[in-house]
Amino acid sequence: MDFSIKSLDAKTGIASLKTGCLAVAVFENKTLSSAARALDKKGEINAALKSGDITGKPGSTLLLRGVTGGAAERVLLVGLGKEDAVGEKDLLSAMQATARTFAALGAADAVVALPFDIVKTRDTAWAVRSYVLAARDGAYRFDAMKSKKEPAPTGVRKIAFAVPATAADVAKHAVTQAVAVANGIDLTKDLGNYPANVCTPTYLAKTAKKMAGEFKLDVEILDRKQLQALKMGSFLSVTNGSVEPPKFIVLKHLGGKSKDAPVVLVGKGITFDSGGISLKPGSAMDEMKYDMGGAASVLGTMRAIAEMKLKLNVIVVIPTCENMPSGSATKPGDIVTSMSGQTIEILNTDAEGRLVLCDALTYAERFKPAAVVDVATLTGACITALGHHNSGLFTRSDEAHDALANELLAAGKQAGDTAWRMPIEDSYQEQLKSNFADMANIGGPPAGAVTAACFLERYTKKYTWAHLDIAGTAWKSGAAKGSTGRPVPLLTTFLINRAQAAR
Ligand code: BES
Ligand code: MN
Ligand code: ZN
Repeated sequence: MDFSIKSLDAKTGIASLKTGCLAVAVFENKTLSSAARALDKKGEINAALKSGDITGKPGSTLLLRGVTGGAAERVLLVGLGKEDAVGEKDLLSAMQATARTFAALGAADAVVALPFDIVKTRDTAWAVRSYVLAARDGAYRFDAMKSKKEPAPTGVRKIAFAVPATAADVAKHAVTQAVAVANGIDLTKDLGNYPANVCTPTYLAKTAKKMAGEFKLDVEILDRKQLQALKMGSFLSVTNGSVEPPKFIVLKHLGGKSKDAPVVLVGKGITFDSGGISLKPGSAMDEMKYDMGGAASVLGTMRAIAEMKLKLNVIVVIPTCENMPSGSATKPGDIVTSMSGQTIEILNTDAEGRLVLCDALTYAERFKPAAVVDVATLTGACITALGHHNSGLFTRSDEAHDALANELLAAGKQAGDTAWRMPIEDSYQEQLKSNFADMANIGGPPAGAVTAACFLERYTKKYTWAHLDIAGTAWKSGAAKGSTGRPVPLLTTFLINRAQAAR
């Protein structure tokens, strides 16, 4: 799919656009948007509205041929709801309906001429970005593992956004950024959807290296020997039952000033989580191939910001391995020493995410980060708490951390990839007490998502840190089983906003 901008001015008006299909808005009270009015010299659009063939409700559509007031072959009327109160959701559903219609249309190219600036709280850039992401999301297919590929998608391949000349530059920039984000999301989805026998720690490392080559990033892959030298006893304890070698990926995009402290993104990369000796039940265990969703999302985010050449220093850190049972696997009750020196009694080998992350969080100290955000499919308890709508956001609650939390929450809202803040407090920390080590790796049944975050918190004292639990948002179960690409939209928006603030 190819996206571009058509700049409108006195010379090039809506009516003069030669295209396979032109999408314009109509409203619930049977009024026309200015673009629709420009095409309606002979009254065909008005007649269609009056006939009741389209309600004008958000997302309603009607395809017309033979609209004589313009040069377009077809005109797609798209409902936007109430003219004086078009909300974010209304414009989104109108754009989704447009994208869906275009996907099944016999035209080679089309122009979207919706009033992109009609939502009071959002701008044209937001609207254009949202359209690109919705269209690309609808077009995504994963058939890499099927012997018979699905037929190549039909429908409109070239889509232009018609905007007033004054908004053309901003819109162009938004399209470039959105395409980069969509490419990042596709990578994240692919990595998640590949089975664990393909997407191994070695495969993730190869993906990072390939990306480094393509976008000129610095990359470093540490192997077991190097991790032993770093004394990552907690991370390594998770790898004990697996024959797949662990990898520790460090990928750097240094697009900012050399003196600027980097943002570090840490992604949980368990390529399969069987639970280890604390074996998971069999039903839906296949979905634990998605337990590298954090790693996939930070790689997708890196791809997006590298493609858009974001002026910001960003470092991705990924501890990746399998969690498997075997004669050499870590046993409940085993005590390990983390890179930080703190000892951990492993009471449940299925609470492995925090064990790989804590050493990665200690490693991140060396970058003197401006902020560290870790992203992990960490707890089933987070799904119980927040369902599949919001990722769980955890930080300490001093001034710096409240600011970081608010930045992430706002980015999520802006991107339609939301998070919800959860607590970190000393009272929960007490649940991690161990009789034999500095801490246990589980805090018992109450508030499982919170105690997991509290565990991580103990390894992040030296910088400003946030934790995103994406167990409920990284993939979908059931008939539509598959990776969602979340939270790439949240993370890229967060980084874009940071880069903007730094200029
Ligand atoms: N990867 C899982 C968390 C998970 C579970 C994500 C279900 C998505 C769906 C994690 O490693 C895990 O097993 N967590 C345990 C922790 C418990 C043993 C304290 C859990 O949530 O049950
Ligand atoms: Mn687990
Ligand atoms: Zn896990």
